[in-house]
Amino acid sequence: MTAPHFDGPRFDKKVVLITGAAGGIGRATAVRFAAEGARVGLVDVSRDGLRESLAAVEKAGGTGLTVEADVTRSADVTRYAAAVADRFGGIDCFFNNAGILGAVRPLVEYPEDAFEEDHRPANPAAVHDRIAGGIYPVDGGSVA
Ligand SMILES: NC(=O)c1ccc[n+]([C@@H]2O[C@H](COP(=O)([O-])OP(=O)(O)OC[C@H]3O[C@@H](n4cnc5c(N)ncnc54)[C@H](O)[C@@H]3O)[C@@H](O)[C@H]2O)c1
Repeated sequence: MTAPHFDGPRFDKKVVLITGAAGGIGRATAVRFAAEGARVGLVDVSRDGLRESLAAVEKAGGTGLTVEADVTRSADVTRYAAAVADRFGGIDCFFNNAGILGAVRPLVEYPEDAFEEDHRPANPAAVHDRIAGGIYPVDGGSVA
């Protein structure tokens, strides 16, 4: 099998929505996608962090839209997905990255009272419902 060959940016004109975009992995991902030609929707609860991420995306020559939102709130999910789709004409890739690292220890030792709160942002049900419901059908794209 031969590796795919790309002459230009690999994500030219693609639209990538990234949650947790103010954080380390989210920002790095946004900059990388932008450098490969994608337009990026940046979603996070942190307004200041989003501002810094957008600056990093623009420094890389990219275009982005920031949406301050909480991924655990269904109404927010609808709002940020609509905002990004309206601005860029659709969404090709969802990177559902928002989350809280929480306690780094074996599951059986995890503080019970913190578990649900720490893992709530990682529950992708709300996003998936909307994609599966056909509001933002992903045609040949990617949901991670
Ligand atoms: N860094 C690691 O070693 C590691 C390891 C395993 C998993 N992860 C997971 O990868 C993801 C990104 O990690 P990171 O290191 O960039 O973390 P980070 O803390 O730097 O970034 C996470 C971002 O998610 C945002 N966020 C949290 N809850 C949110 C919510 N409800 N709505 C919207 N935004 C919210 C935070 O504001 C933050 O900007 C997280 O889900 C983390 O749990 C990270």
